Amino acid sequence: MSTSPKVVVVTGASQGIGAGIVQAFRTLDYAVVATSRSIEPSNDSNVLTVAGDIGDPATAQRVISEGLTRFGRIDTLVNNAGIYVGKPFTEYTRGDYAAVMNVNMAGFFYITQLAIAEMEKQASGHVVSVTASIADTAYSGVYSVLAALTKGGVNAATKSLAIEYARKGIRVNAVAPGIIKSPMHPPETHDALRALNPLKRISEVNDIADAILYLDAAPFITGEILHVDGGQYAGR
Ligand SMILES: NC(=O)c1ccc[n+]([C@@H]2O[C@H](COP(=O)([O-])OP(=O)(O)OC[C@H]3O[C@@H](n4cnc5c(N)ncnc54)[C@H](OP(=O)(O)O)[C@@H]3O)[C@@H](O)[C@H]2O)c1
Repeated sequence: MSTSPKVVVVTGASQGIGAGIVQAFRTLDYAVVATSRSIEPSNDSNVLTVAGDIGDPATAQRVISEGLTRFGRIDTLVNNAGIYVGKPFTEYTRGDYAAVMNVNMAGFFYITQLAIAEMEKQASGHVVSVTASIADTAYSGVYSVLAALTKGGVNAATKSLAIEYARKGIRVNAVAPGIIKSPMHPPETHDALRALNPLKRISEVNDIADAILYLDAAPFITGEILHVDGGQYAGR
């Protein structure tokens, strides 16, 4: 049996949910390849950081190749990097569209291709993407078209990839958060966001990290979109 640690790649790892996911995997002794544009070198020798724009295929290439050089394998990819731009549909600019597509779509596509190609060689692996509950259930008054377009696309691609790679030992899942306390939402917005939720709370980063660890350790779950949203997906 191999004694080398399992290796996870986490995108959007500099803050918020991504930083929490890095910590959660470290508690399980995974080696981590952590990436974002502004990520700093880590003092932890089992955390390799790679800085770059995740929508750029060259960044995806560096993350996977530097991770393999340092740790030798890729067991799990967590596609967490994402941005949200909320505006009335007709007010979105070309720049808004390009920015959201770059991170939420291209940032999923290129690195997932490269990670799955590595996982195929070892006939095992897990890809889990952080999407958004609002992609499945829109809220009146919350502007969500670009989130629906991109995160909804990743939810659909999750099922598609799960089936395409099931026979090759690679599982593909997603976690769809509701509203999470992260730098994405300034504290002054929290009360209003809480009021929108069936459980009347917004969740902590750990709720998402725990869901990802659960899926990572669940060998019979693939093609699942796990909503961690205090009931938003169920209705309101
Ligand atoms: N917070 C919520 O309520 C909520 C709800 C539903 C879904 N989500 C999803 O959860 C994920 C994490 O969100 P969060 O709340 O933790 O957001 P956050 O605090 O704003 O963090 C976003 C992360 O993505 C990275 N990032 C942004 N643009 C990037 C780019 N072009 N290239 C590489 N990295 C980039 C950021 O790092 P750099 O700036 O260093 O690049 C940062 O690490 C996202 O996919 C988001 O859509 C969040």
